Amino acid sequence: MPRVLAAVKSFPAEFRPAPKDQRRRMSSPTLTSRPGGALVGRVRAPGDKSISHRALILGALAEGETQIEGLLEGDDVVRTAEAMQAFGAGVERLGEGRWRVTGQGELTEPADVVDCGNSGTGARQIMGAAARVAIAATFTGDASLRRRPMARVTDPLTQMGALAVTRAGGRLPLTLRGGALKRISYRQPVPSAQVKSALLLAGLGPGVEVIETDPTRDHTERMLAAFGASLHVEARETGRAVRLEGGQRLTGTRVRVPGDPSSAAFPLVAALIVPGSEVTVLGVLLNPLRAGLFETLIEMGADLTISNRREDGGEPVGDITARHSALRGVEVPPDRATSMIDEYPILAVAAAFAEGPTAMRGVGELRVKESDRIALMAAGLQACGVMVEEEPEGMIVTGLARANHPVQGGATVRTHGDHRVAMAHLVMGLAAEAPIEVDEPGMIATSFPGFEALMRGLGAAIGTPGPAEAR
Ligand code: S3P
Repeated sequence: MPRVLAAVKSFPAEFRPAPKDQRRRMSSPTLTSRPGGALVGRVRAPGDKSISHRALILGALAEGETQIEGLLEGDDVVRTAEAMQAFGAGVERLGEGRWRVTGQGELTEPADVVDCGNSGTGARQIMGAAARVAIAATFTGDASLRRRPMARVTDPLTQMGALAVTRAGGRLPLTLRGGALKRISYRQPVPSAQVKSALLLAGLGPGVEVIETDPTRDHTERMLAAFGASLHVEARETGRAVRLEGGQRLTGTRVRVPGDPSSAAFPLVAALIVPGSEVTVLGVLLNPLRAGLFETLIEMGADLTISNRREDGGEPVGDITARHSALRGVEVPPDRATSMIDEYPILAVAAAFAEGPTAMRGVGELRVKESDRIALMAAGLQACGVMVEEEPEGMIVTGLARANHPVQGGATVRTHGDHRVAMAHLVMGLAAEAPIEVDEPGMIATSFPGFEALMRGLGAAIGTPGPAEAR
């Protein structure tokens, strides 16, 4: 049996991603949300996806044992766990969210193609980690990932000395051969934490400097330090420079994964738009490079309070309470985009319930996420009766709250398998006049496996439509 398959078999069935063709059959073809009563309760957000990927990858690159608590057991992260096993690390699930990774200090050549599923974060970071050593690995992913740009990571890795054989346009599948890398100083043309992380992982041997004009999430920097690496971060006139000297050795450690703000955003925005609601999400990561949505919602007039601020696992966390609020449109500063890049779909929903226009600009990157999120959010909102102007690098959503013009809903939204587009529209349906249905709901499990149950626990009417609900 190929090694990667044997590896998959050692995971409990419930955390094994279904093969692509089965996933659609297994899950219901659609999920529907409908307006109902207030949402009330206290919930815990699932583990942060970005930190979960990094904990597994750094654990595999380190020498010795890494114990992880609170790991997100979503499909994307399980793919990374399987990949790390395929690259020679020991990966075991000890209990809910508790995993142990045993690394040898180096990755070894995988026996088969590495399938990263839907995850750009997994694929790009693992490429960086693999480029460090003289091995060849072939990467692929699902239809969405195979459309996403990979040259942004293979170009700088090639400059460091790796060899990449890609399809036209630099898409997956691609084969990478690493080893004997040289140190480079790389100024990112597009701010990307995934690319920065890939280069830092590749640079553990030769050293590397990455300069970013807009600072992106710094979990890799924080976690590398926790694994014993020494980094220098410097604010320069030209941008934020992260420098890693060569010859770094990582040692296994304990990682506690805080709650994902990108997932917490869905129940919190639901509470803001459904009258009478009050929802608290416990233990949410409050890293300033991830908190742009909360800042924006507060500017929009949201009643959001943060309590019990504390430090957990080297990251700031807190409990966030959202109460139903009268929102007003705002202009989101483009330089805030990196701190809320995954939150624009749910912000667009909040904007639909606000008074006046909310302008989201300088976010062309949204077109190369799991889907073209500008096009899909504009189409979905328009189908639900919301005014949206689409721009090449952004969109303007105009809410008509004061004119008492409700969001109509009553549409079936095509998500192109994008988990965040699906969850955003399901949240919108809770406060619209008529139910909203989304296709491919099985993909929500890539980042938020318990989404439906968690929302229902708060009182949300989300489920598969029964015969009585046929429209
Ligand atoms: C991520 C970085 C972001 C984000 C993604 C997770 C990460 O992507 O959209 O969901 O964990 O580094 P980019 O780095 O491409 O902006």
